[in-house]
Formats: sequence, structure tokens, C-alpha cells
Amino acid sequence: MTAQLINGLALAHRLRATMRERAEKLSQAGYRAGLAVVLVGDDPASAVYVRNKLRACEECGVGSQSYILPGYATEGEVLDLIDRLNADDSVHGILVQLPLPPHINVRRVIESIDVCKDVDGFHLYNVGALVLGQSVFPPCTPYGVQLLLETTGIEVAGKNAVVVGASNIVGKPMALMLLQKEATVSICHVRTRDLAQFTILADILIVAAGKPGLITGPMVKQGAVVIDVGINRLPNGNIVGDVDFESVRERAAWLTPVPGGVGPMTVTMLIENTLRSAERVAGLAVT
Ligand code: GUN
Repeated sequence: MTAQLINGLALAHRLRATMRERAEKLSQAGYRAGLAVVLVGDDPASAVYVRNKLRACEECGVGSQSYILPGYATEGEVLDLIDRLNADDSVHGILVQLPLPPHINVRRVIESIDVCKDVDGFHLYNVGALVLGQSVFPPCTPYGVQLLLETTGIEVAGKNAVVVGASNIVGKPMALMLLQKEATVSICHVRTRDLAQFTILADILIVAAGKPGLITGPMVKQGAVVIDVGINRLPNGNIVGDVDFESVRERAAWLTPVPGGVGPMTVTMLIENTLRSAERVAGLAVT
């Protein structure tokens, strides 16, 4: 079997076209959706992610403002900035790029964001709501994966879903969303013994471990759906996922490429959440 590729880039472009129309409708109603991005320090990878997010806003007609603080900024300065953004009616979404420098308490910062502007979906309230299947803003990467599965026509209910990686940003919320859709879910992590005994049972395998080549063909069930969330830069400069593409492609029925799979969907769902927030404020949304 040779897997069909799930083209996240194409879906992201289609979604962004409809998002431009939504931004236009908002502007006709007198609103401009606005995202504020906070970056503390000079982590090069974070700077690239932030640039991509700002570019996507521009592409979709969503306003954006970046607030770049030096790595020595105090927690109080970050909290003051968030207070101002919470109170600013032109800001519909606030995103604090992670990781933050170690002297800043991440939870305190995220919990200071107004829940109605938490477009990353990282606030305790949003995480708790996700457990009940009611989140205000679903976290962007798992939300993007869910949409990729839906638009590809992949049924989740009753399937064995295995999530590799238990991060707060991807693995844990992904598992909750799959559970909400009635999959039987297992979560594997760094302390899992014999990873392959779990992955081989997966009808749907989601890999978000940050380890290139972690999943190889023999670890994958014939005909499985494999979603590779990893983005790793190799010493030669190539970007690869966590899945050994060539060997897994021979076993899976569906596979996301890296780049061009999950990555473009993550940024797109951030725009989705920001638009939804603005639409709520403008009275244009039912939810
Ligand atoms: N760092 C890595 N991924 C993310 C993300 O999705 N959101 C934020 N805020 N920071 C990140």
C-alpha cells in the first residue's frame, strides 16, 4: 500500500480564502479583527513562528500587532502588557509565544489573558472546557488536525487512536478532542515502554514528539491514518517530521507530509479563532 498524502497546505489556502471574506464582512459591520502577539526574548525559532503568524493575519485581512520584549523583561512587565491588551477593544485575540524565559511563570502569564481573547486555547478555563467538549477556543494544532481528518472524510468514532507525545500544546488536547469524537485513545510519551506495541494498533496515529524518524514503517498498522505533527530541522537544513516518510508511506493509507501537512493548518486555526472572537464581539456569530 502507498499512502495518499493529506495536503494541509491546500486546505489551509482554501480556508484562508473564506476567512478573507469573513474579515471583509466584519469590516462592513465596522470591525477589524485584531490579533496581538507577545514575544519575550530572541529565540530564533519563536521569531520565525511569530513572523508566520503575522504574515497569515495580513493574508486574511486580520489586523495584527507584535509586542517584542527583551529576554530580561520582568514577569510584571509582561502582565502589565497583557492587562492593557485585555482592555483594548481593538484586540480580539492575544497570543503569548512560548517558551517564555525561565524567570517568568508561564501559567501566571497565560491565566492573566482574558478567556474571551485566549485564541491559543491555553488558559486553564479553555483547557477545562475542552475536557467537557465545550472549549471556547480549541488549541490551534489539534484543531487543525481535527479539520484535516474531517475534510479527508476519516471517521474517528470507534477507531483506535494513538497519540505519541503528551505536551500541553498538542498531545494532551489532541487526545481529548479524539475522545470527544468517540475514538478509543491511548497517549504515549517519553516513559512509554515499547512504543511500537501501541502504535501498531492505531487506526489513527498522531505523532507529536519532536524526534525525527521516531516512527518507522514496521511500527504502523497497514492502512492506518498517520498525522505527523513534528517539525524538525536536520543539520543539513532540511525540515522533517517525526515520521520516517518513505517507510511509513508503504504501510499507511493516509499520511501528512512535512512540510505542507499540519504546519499550515496550525496558523490557519489561529486566524479562525481570532475571527470567531471578533465575530462574537460584533454580534455576527451564534457561538
Ligand atoms: N510555541 C510553540 N507552539 C506554540 C503555539 O501554538 N502557541 C504559542 N503561543 N507558542 C507556541
